[in-house]
Amino acid sequence: MTSKVYPELRTATANLTFSNDPQFSPRFWEVVQIFVAGIQPLTDIGGVAIWELTNGTFVVSPVTVPGGTQALLQTWLQPTLDLLVRHQMSFNYTIHEYTTFYDSYREMNRPSNVTEYQIGGRLIPRSTVDRNLSKLFHALQTITEHGAVVSGVSLNVSRTPVPDNAVNPAWRDTAISIVIAMPFDYHKRTANRISQGLITNTLLPLLEELTPGSGAYLNEADINQPNWQSTFYGSNYVKLAAIKLKYDPDHFFYARTAVGSEYWVESADGRLCHAV
Ligand SMILES: *[C@@H]1O[C@H](CO)[C@@H](O)[C@H](O)[C@H]1NC(C)=O
Ligand SMILES: *[C@@H]1O[C@H](CO)[C@@H](O)[C@H](O)[C@H]1NC(C)=O
Ligand SMILES: *[C@@H]1O[C@H](CO)[C@@H](O)[C@H](O)[C@H]1NC(C)=O
Ligand SMILES: *[C@@H]1O[C@H](CO)[C@@H](O)[C@H](O)[C@H]1NC(C)=O
Ligand SMILES: *[C@@H]1O[C@H](CO)[C@@H](O)[C@H](O)[C@H]1NC(C)=O
Ligand SMILES: *[C@@H]1O[C@H](CO)[C@@H](O)[C@H](O)[C@H]1NC(C)=O
Repeated sequence: MTSKVYPELRTATANLTFSNDPQFSPRFWEVVQIFVAGIQPLTDIGGVAIWELTNGTFVVSPVTVPGGTQALLQTWLQPTLDLLVRHQMSFNYTIHEYTTFYDSYREMNRPSNVTEYQIGGRLIPRSTVDRNLSKLFHALQTITEHGAVVSGVSLNVSRTPVPDNAVNPAWRDTAISIVIAMPFDYHKRTANRISQGLITNTLLPLLEELTPGSGAYLNEADINQPNWQSTFYGSNYVKLAAIKLKYDPDHFFYARTAVGSEYWVESADGRLCHAV
């Protein structure tokens, strides 16, 4: 692996949490929408916001701007905070500037476990946020009303020129990487089948309809994702499949949604057989 090393940067970060009072639900959704649309100037300069949305709460933990000052971050969060005040909604908010990115990362990111959720994901292009924002929020509201948790990472990884590598090209247009999650049930296998089916057949299509031609982040995705070749690898798939065939002509390496897995089928008893 080749890594690029950067000098340390001062880093501004903030946390924000507020809840949905069912009596004033439209206000909650209005503030969430202002936050998500308003964060784009920060993502354009390298900022990242990690947020989580349910039908009852919105948590930003954290929004980070490497190289940014606390004053700059405060400026871009102010419209969200002003609207919370105007709607008389209570919230928890902290903002801080660290001397180094590492200090910020260590303080603001709790250790996390292996996920205990059934998941599916979708990359939301900038064009959807800019031109279909209310439709996007209508979909997100419907998804949370089904009991799902929506996790969003707002970022901008556009590059000019786009590096010649295997990254799914959809990332370059992405404003938010969204993951939909339903709690894992350790006791009822059927319940998990049902919730995973809900994600595949009902919830993800709501986002797919609004994001034609986009994709999903392979590492946080639906194991049953239809059209996984184009969804996870985009236009790179054909070249990746040729490389796989060159170095692994016997198809020894296999994973369900990995490049070249079409040469195998999983039979009902779980055995892996050659596709005919
Ligand atoms: C969220 O959904 C639960 C049931 O899934 C419901 O009891 C609760 O009232 C909902 N909360 C809001 C704020 O809509
Ligand atoms: C703010 O934090 C306090 C203490 O952790 C908690 O009790 C309260 O519910 C939080 N308020 C909101 C709106 O999240
Ligand atoms: C922000 O959230 C992170 C993760 O939940 C937590 O570890 C950290 O203590 C919070 N920071 C502040 C200043 O509230
Ligand atoms: C991870 O999961 C284990 C087992 O459920 C639990 O004991 C532990 O507190 C969890 N750690 C975190 C950081 O959530
Ligand atoms: C907006 O959403 C509609 C589906 O409701 C879709 O057909 C259209 O392509 C979307 N427009 C943009 C700019 O994403
Ligand atoms: C990323 O930011 C640049 C400006 O630095 C902008 O031209 C581009 O449209 C942005 N891309 C996305 C996907 O947000």
